[in-house]
Amino acid sequence: MKQPEAKARIDKLKKEIEEHNHNYYVLNKPVISDFEYDLLLNELDTLEKKFPEFVTEDSPTRKVGSDMTREFRQYEHRYPMLSLGNTYSEEDLREFDTRIEKVSTAPFEYVCELKFDGASISITFRNGGLFRALTRGDGTKGDDVTLNVKTIKKIPVRITVENVPDEFVMRGEILMPRAVFDNINEDRIHNDLAPFANPRNAAAGTLKLLDPKIVASRGLDCNFYFLLADDLPHETHYENMMEASSWGFNVPKSIRLCRDIEEVIAFINHWESERKALPFDIDGVVIKVNSLTLQEELGYTAKSPRWAIAYKYKAEQALTKLLSVSFQIGRTGNVTPVANLEPVFLAGSTVKRATLHNENQIALLGLHINDMVYVEKGGEIIPKIVGVDHSLRNEGSREIKFITNCPECGTPLIKNEGEANHFCPNYLHCPPQLKGRIEHFISRKAMNIDGLGEETVDLLFNRNLIRNYADLYELEAEQLAPLERLGEKSAANIIKSIKSSLTVPYNRVLFALGIRHVGETVAKTISSRFISIDELMKADLESLTGVNEIGPKIASSIMAFFADSDNITIIQRLKDSGLRFSEETEKGPETDRLEGKTIVISGVFQKHSRDEFKELIEKHGGKNSASISGSTSFILAGDNMGPSKKEKAEQLGVAIMNENDFLELIGEE
Ligand code: IVH
Repeated sequence: MKQPEAKARIDKLKKEIEEHNHNYYVLNKPVISDFEYDLLLNELDTLEKKFPEFVTEDSPTRKVGSDMTREFRQYEHRYPMLSLGNTYSEEDLREFDTRIEKVSTAPFEYVCELKFDGASISITFRNGGLFRALTRGDGTKGDDVTLNVKTIKKIPVRITVENVPDEFVMRGEILMPRAVFDNINEDRIHNDLAPFANPRNAAAGTLKLLDPKIVASRGLDCNFYFLLADDLPHETHYENMMEASSWGFNVPKSIRLCRDIEEVIAFINHWESERKALPFDIDGVVIKVNSLTLQEELGYTAKSPRWAIAYKYKAEQALTKLLSVSFQIGRTGNVTPVANLEPVFLAGSTVKRATLHNENQIALLGLHINDMVYVEKGGEIIPKIVGVDHSLRNEGSREIKFITNCPECGTPLIKNEGEANHFCPNYLHCPPQLKGRIEHFISRKAMNIDGLGEETVDLLFNRNLIRNYADLYELEAEQLAPLERLGEKSAANIIKSIKSSLTVPYNRVLFALGIRHVGETVAKTISSRFISIDELMKADLESLTGVNEIGPKIASSIMAFFADSDNITIIQRLKDSGLRFSEETEKGPETDRLEGKTIVISGVFQKHSRDEFKELIEKHGGKNSASISGSTSFILAGDNMGPSKKEKAEQLGVAIMNENDFLELIGEE
């Protein structure tokens, strides 16, 4: 390769790698496999070695990919957080061993650890307490995620053992166990949220959530692999890890002391097959020189230590041909492009289809019909295309045209600014959307109508017996019994299970309606703030976004839903059928001091939490409402009441009461 050509290739590789870094570390949505990423990085590294005149300080070969985002405060790492050199070959490992042998004057040992596939974390402990937790960031400084990390049960917040250094840093990997991942994704798919691509992305994404309460509910785990301090207790990595374990840190039992490279290779081979039985994903093995003195002698490159290396396992891949792309319409109208492949056997089953996510993904892969593509099954449920072999592109290849109209109903598709997906706006008549909404409505976490399944919904839909979920409650056994596969008994069962769904509480009915962006949790929150659907229908943008966890996106989706007269008619029919559209207070009120009063709570309080005040209102026979209207009796106001609420109260002449007066009024002072 000549100079100008090399320069052009180097620039292109740099740009591409930067983009993949952003996809992986910031968006947590990688579009190529680790293996392919490493190939690109290797190619760049080789070219830079051949043409050192083109090496720049900011080359991805010299710095680690950054995970930092604007939402968190950043702090410097006391000890830089480096990356690891990696390899997929035994030969490289033997070379690594030879290099170390040359430097070492005495026999030496290795420590082998599993390479956990999650998000790395660096936690500083001061005077026995968890002081600060930082993500890797750019290696020099990282995002402060202390509050989130403190919610992870496996991470001690206080060390009770005596004689630990006054200040030390523990490094490890935050992981999401596969079982937890499967559960969360099942819920996400059900709630029409994009599923996480794999447990690593789910762990990294969770760590960067802004609400520690949600982090706490996500079942994260942490494995530790590195102790750093100015004054370490021992002279070897292994002993330091054992020490950390005795302080209460979760150092995995898999850690192994190896006398030579043969033992290292045996360890690697052992875990290559055993890893499938682990509760979490690993992507390889990390091999570290045990002696800290020898580590120091070996030193560092710009990016990684010379005393450690990662051996990575290749994810199983298969090469096959992309035959065509179909487009699927989901329950909320989302369009997903799906690749139809020449069937290929991969990791235990035949793969015929793979998801392509959206238009961007197709462009990023540079994918054409008839291309030879690599498919991979990671921790994911659906196989995905991770790369294209452009050298195998043949004449029959042609660009993939993203559809402009819905394949089911012909309506022109819409793509909102800032969103990755196209969607079909024909909410009321597009068949998969109609069916999808009914399927969602009857599902376990919604109305739980277990006598009906997808197939029966299909059948009833195709026979024109149902068009929306309100139709379900008007079905009669006589209409169902004559249908194929049903008969009198199933017909009776279906009607029975539809009837028994009438007792499903308000918050689940709200979830069942299938309002865009209103999942299970949001439905619960809404139902506790707007205690009946009539209140919710009246809510404006301000009162909706005044509720914690509800942003403008959810709020406008709720308002759009109720602005649609067809939805209002459906809800009226559901009401007439007897569904629950208001929160039933479990206990009746204990006093009638607030009888007939509708009270809005606003601001921050000294004596009780807002939830406690809500309970007090109910206990004394009052009603708590989220929005101020002409029927509001008064506002229970704490500090920092929102200015717009204040203005509205003044406009409507609604009285404002402070917490002391309120407590006196109800006799709780
Ligand atoms: S040691 C200077 N040990 O792999 C050595 N890293 O590319 C620092 N990782 O971001 C790393 N398991 O998050 C080490 N047993 C292990 C590991 C491990 C996973 C991650 C780590 C780092 C990346 C290195």
